[in-house]
Amino acid sequence: MAKEFKRYLVTSALPYANGPVHIGHLAGVYIPSDIYTRYLRLKGCDVISVCGSDEHGVPITIKARKEGVSPQQIVDRYHELIKKSFEGLGMSFDIYSRTSSKTHAETASAFFRKLYDEGKFIEKTSMQYYDEEAQTFLADRYIVGTCPKCGNDRAYGDQCEKCGSTLSPDELIDPHSAVSGSVPVKRETKHWYLPLDQYEGFLREWILEGHKEWKSNVYGQCKSWLDGGLQPRAVSRDLDWGIPVPVEGAEGKVLYVWFDAPIGYISATKDLTPDWEKYWKSEETKMVHFIGKDNIVFHCIVFPSMLKAHGGYILPENVPANEFLNLEGDKISTSRNWAVWLHEYLEEFPGKEDVLRYVLCANAPETKDNDFTWKDFQARNNNELVAVLGNFVNRALVLTKKYFDGRVPACGELTDYDRETIAEVAAVKASLEANIEHYRFREALKDAMNISRIGNKYLADTEPWKVVKTDLERVKTILNIALQITANTAIAIEPFMPFSAAKILKMLAVDKFGWERLGAMDLIPTGHEIGEPVLLFEKIEDDVIQRQLDKLAATKAANQAAEAAQHVEPQKDTIQFEDFQKMDIRVSTILAAEKVAKTKKLLKLTVDTGIDKREIVSGIAEYFTPEELVGKQVLVLVNLAPRELKGILSKGMILMAEDASGKLRLLQPGDATNNGAVVG
Ligand code: 2FM
Ligand code: ZN
Repeated sequence: MAKEFKRYLVTSALPYANGPVHIGHLAGVYIPSDIYTRYLRLKGCDVISVCGSDEHGVPITIKARKEGVSPQQIVDRYHELIKKSFEGLGMSFDIYSRTSSKTHAETASAFFRKLYDEGKFIEKTSMQYYDEEAQTFLADRYIVGTCPKCGNDRAYGDQCEKCGSTLSPDELIDPHSAVSGSVPVKRETKHWYLPLDQYEGFLREWILEGHKEWKSNVYGQCKSWLDGGLQPRAVSRDLDWGIPVPVEGAEGKVLYVWFDAPIGYISATKDLTPDWEKYWKSEETKMVHFIGKDNIVFHCIVFPSMLKAHGGYILPENVPANEFLNLEGDKISTSRNWAVWLHEYLEEFPGKEDVLRYVLCANAPETKDNDFTWKDFQARNNNELVAVLGNFVNRALVLTKKYFDGRVPACGELTDYDRETIAEVAAVKASLEANIEHYRFREALKDAMNISRIGNKYLADTEPWKVVKTDLERVKTILNIALQITANTAIAIEPFMPFSAAKILKMLAVDKFGWERLGAMDLIPTGHEIGEPVLLFEKIEDDVIQRQLDKLAATKAANQAAEAAQHVEPQKDTIQFEDFQKMDIRVSTILAAEKVAKTKKLLKLTVDTGIDKREIVSGIAEYFTPEELVGKQVLVLVNLAPRELKGILSKGMILMAEDASGKLRLLQPGDATNNGAVVG
């Protein structure tokens, strides 16, 4: 028997306030959590949804250093941006808090202090990497090096983003400081550790025995952590940004961000309601953590161990973590700007909030990584939202306006087909509920959309626009049923597409219904006057999609150029001075230039080397026009053995450098120099 709960506490991973939110975050965490919460609210449950900005940790201080501003300025900027963009997308958190708040500092300090006082930590002095130039210890992302697992030379001290491995600074090969670039030394420092190994038994019992129903990706990750054996984890850091460790002799030390961040859920609840303990300390509360897969260990192993160590708090009932969403076949990356940013989407697609919500849910990475493509976004909008949902609602309303002046006609005698249709609509409820309650939101969305599919088919099959010519009574029944199905659609889609649900209700001129009314066929009374029909969704044209694809192509090109710029050819073998002396390089002036007939790449240049005037054939026609070369001073290797190219004897070589993008550049003397001047 499933356990009964009196109330729900829904948490959504606190996004780091060091950048905007992108579609990967939305599909992985926030869309599912909002669907779940809205559904529970519609059902009339006692539910609260808490979230907020995660404002500590090294990435924030690194960004602040890079920009020459304070960490507080960074988090203020992104907290506002994230909060506003969440609101824009209709995220219905009961509170969107922040971990730089006073409540949070107090809550996290008290939490640490209780564990400290009760001897729940191990105090340990160890040697850790220290940057002598920047005078700082190098924890987490302050240290970079080569990943021992996959060879990625830009792995961080806490994680390799390429292969996803969790790392410690000591595991990195060739570690260097991300602050100054210098090679660090080791220095002694003291920290507090939570001995996770002592919680292994409890975790095994609680997760492996007690929560076999968790999603297989979550259960599997927990099992592999537990089977690998847990180690004590440091819960403090040597940093000047964070919540100070509330203990004597801990100057310069702050709580590790992954210690304070999950406590942020508690402080957010405190900021929301004085009744916060009812949600956190009662076995009658069902707590559900919505997170991405990279957060599993913290929410299933570390935070529950902290809660257990503290005592008095409930544990999560479920942690429905999603996998990752890719973008056009590539991993989403904040640093490479490979993302669709929520705030930009909201600006570029005003009024299309639900389209993004719909596409991200329909394509959510629930069981495996998935791909977002703009073509799929367009197709789902045009073929599903416009052609099915929008079309159905519009037909039902417009026909009612047209035939009955906007008054809901009475339902007459039902045919067998009417009864089948009504039964099909009613049957959606059970499946939709089961899917949402088991965190299968993609399937749940299909169920919700099914109602308008059923409605569309009903109108197509009953053809009221034809029947109206012969049997107005029958049309009354058809449109009554179609309008009841429209109202049902508004209930079913509300958790997924709240803006469209509200629009439908407005067009029907009715108030919001409770979830329990889903399936009912008496939602709108006969004679009720409906409002003005407007289009629910609009077709998205190719040029709109192309603009997004062009934007991504520009990002890709910029990334490639930046990566190429970092690539430098290794040095060649050592030569002796005499080897160099053998080369006779002279400053020369290009007197004439012309394309070599029937070739794409070759130019014939006439140059004055100071020694003579001669012809040189050079493969540079793709990079320079003949006109832009004439009159330029260049460097020429004049004693290169002549060779014939396309019937022209080429006597020498113009010196060039190939830049990071593969483009050739002329090498020229800094100032005008006499032709024949020797280079060496
Ligand atoms: O991965 C992240 O974006 C973290 N900021 C999530 C923190 S969740 C919670 F513990 F606060
Ligand atoms: Zn790796």
